[in-house]
Amino acid sequence: MNDKTFESFRSLIYEKSGISLNEGKKALVQARIGKRMRVLGIDDEDEYFTLVNNDSDGKEVVEMLDAISTNTTSFFREAEHFDFFKAKIREWYEQGQRKFRIWSAASSSGEEPYTIAISILETLPSEIDARILATDISTKILSACKKGFYVKEKLKPINMELKKRYFDKCEQGYMIKDIVKSKVLFKRLNLSTPPFPMKGPLDIIFCRNVMIYFDNKVRHRLINEAYRLLKPGGYLLVGHAESLTGISSKFKTIKPSIYIK
Ligand SMILES: C[S@@+](CC[C@H](N)C(=O)[O-])C[C@H]1O[C@@H](n2cnc3c(N)ncnc32)[C@H](O)[C@@H]1O
Repeated sequence: MNDKTFESFRSLIYEKSGISLNEGKKALVQARIGKRMRVLGIDDEDEYFTLVNNDSDGKEVVEMLDAISTNTTSFFREAEHFDFFKAKIREWYEQGQRKFRIWSAASSSGEEPYTIAISILETLPSEIDARILATDISTKILSACKKGFYVKEKLKPINMELKKRYFDKCEQGYMIKDIVKSKVLFKRLNLSTPPFPMKGPLDIIFCRNVMIYFDNKVRHRLINEAYRLLKPGGYLLVGHAESLTGISSKFKTIKPSIYIK
């Protein structure tokens, strides 16, 4: 891919998703765009750029972003967050709270929102009014989320007891049970374009391992929107490699990667 074509893709991807790609990501962009081009039978990058740039119904933009996004995730990733989460909802429940609203802001293939749901089921009475909104920009990954199917290797971080309680074994792997699935609502949402249509107030937002793809301008907008949507005393959890350093917001730090409104 020549520099000019890379620059064109780079600014289009930034405009449509807030994802910031530096010079070092050229090979990655080339490989991922190339995959999409092969599906379409296009072998010229500029031709594909013209197609996606003139996309009137936005469908090819969605496909391009599906191809570009990095979806690495796992069940109980950064496990201390789920210990913190369980302790907090237990504390709120003991104080009389009976409605819980959680947002998994970049849900990827569902491991994060389903881990949240399992943590709720393990902590609070099953009839509790607890809902998780799971959003992502990638439609492909959201449909994987909705299916709730995982190959055996994906379940490695889950102990035998939880596996039995929340998954059904099927031919190729495991299906998440309806009791978990029914707590999660999936929606496509672009985190780079607040304000978001949710009403709030939310109790806890998991916005983990996605801000690394954004520049400070996009992070600033997103963080301040998260602040608006949280209840006073609500929490924002970011990835362990992320922080709010350099972003002006009203959040107070509880410990690295955990912030309170
Ligand atoms: C590395 S995964 C993180 C998944 C999960 N939060 C975790 O920590 O395991 C990043 C996710 O962010 C999504 N993403 C990237 N840009 C986005 C945007 N502008 N709006 C919403 N989601 C986005 C990607 O599609 C991907 O699924």
